[in-house]
Amino acid sequence: MDKYVIHGGTALHGEVEISGAKNAAVAIIPAALLVEGVCRIENIPQISDTDMLLTILAELGARVSYINRTTIEIDCTDARYQDAPYDLMRKIRASYYLIGSMLGRFGSAKTTMPGGCNFGVRPIDQHIKGMTALGADVSVKNGFVYADALGGRLHGARIYLDKVSVGATMNIMIAAVLASGRTIIENAAREPHIVDLANFLNSMGADVRGAGTDTIKVNGVEKLHGGSYSIIPDQIEAGTYMVAAAATGGEVLVKNVIPKHLECISAKLRETGTIVQEYEDSVLVKGASNLRRVNVKTMPYPGFPTDMQPQMGALLCLANGTSVITEGIYDNRFKYVNELRKMGAEIQVDGRIAIIEGGRRLTGAPVMACDLRAGAAMVIAGMCAAGETQVEDIHFIERGYENFVGKLRALGADISLVSFPDEAETGSDKIIAFG
Ligand code: UD1
Repeated sequence: MDKYVIHGGTALHGEVEISGAKNAAVAIIPAALLVEGVCRIENIPQISDTDMLLTILAELGARVSYINRTTIEIDCTDARYQDAPYDLMRKIRASYYLIGSMLGRFGSAKTTMPGGCNFGVRPIDQHIKGMTALGADVSVKNGFVYADALGGRLHGARIYLDKVSVGATMNIMIAAVLASGRTIIENAAREPHIVDLANFLNSMGADVRGAGTDTIKVNGVEKLHGGSYSIIPDQIEAGTYMVAAAATGGEVLVKNVIPKHLECISAKLRETGTIVQEYEDSVLVKGASNLRRVNVKTMPYPGFPTDMQPQMGALLCLANGTSVITEGIYDNRFKYVNELRKMGAEIQVDGRIAIIEGGRRLTGAPVMACDLRAGAAMVIAGMCAAGETQVEDIHFIERGYENFVGKLRALGADISLVSFPDEAETGSDKIIAFG
């Protein structure tokens, strides 16, 4: 079993380069299925979620080639409708984008219900509502989603989302690009990766307007052509290193970012007393010797992101005073609190609210990564704790952080990826990689 082993107490110092945005990449890769031609995509993050989606596309007949570590070419000219590999699809949340892209390209889709992190019930009713409005017959049976465009092609429609949903907004955009006529998505989500997907689609010949506002208009086109596109930097990866720098009391220059996308995180960190200086494409974070308590409420963009909530929770265990976190997006995103308690944190949870009695010294412990961002929170807590922390289930973390161990070690963290023998095996622990 692979674990991260962390010896806490070292403040992070230095520079870290942020990779391409996971939540943009996991939509753009499936959207490439709409394109008959070569899509050259730069700044692809090296994470397991993107690997899985590229494998799924290849199984549908796409030609996928790496030009260098972060640049790929995808040619879906010869892709054909067929059953997608369900064992891979059920592992990732973003496999739901295959519903939109297969419907748009082939007029039919059959996918599994999506997997991914479990923060309670994560329905896809708004995706289905959107596809149905575009003229698809959609049904869910035995864990599979079946969708067929009546007449073989989707048509434009006006769709009002009952919930502000990132996934539904992007999925409907993908499906609508090759539909006949105009689609209007109202109450759309406004996250940076939504704008990025729209820019990608437009650079391949689509006509998507208004992304980044709550009303998106898609004028359907007959065909998309190949082109070149570079994915934006990852807001959440950047935010994680910012919080890690602040929590450990270090000083880190977080490079290759769009500071505007980080404002919601920078503002909250400043309230804790952390210094955040913005430059053109980087932010410098200097930790305070005494962190102050703050209240945090997660909201759709431009609010504080739910995907930064666990990392902030770890930091607030160290801040002086009582902090309150209100989770505004998911019903069950505080599972990680039990793990922080093992390290000495004092946190009470009541539904969507967590009350953190800060100012505690954390102590190292064996903990689990309950999900991707919860795993990042455990690593941050481990780097601040006295003694050794072992983080299990790190496959969750590797879904979304490129070279996490290597980047943290370059900042001075004492963290290693260690392969522990199964109980049946004998022999000493073996370090298999540093990054
Ligand atoms: C995406 C992100 C995830 C992030 C989340 C919110 C990806 C692959 N994942 O997830 O990292 O935490 O946005 O920023 O991009 N909902 C419904 N019905 C639906 C869809 C959503 O009720 O059809 C609810 C969800 O349960 C949740 C809320 O709406 O309570 C927002 O979810 P949504 O924005 O859709 O999240 P995801 O797209 O799944």
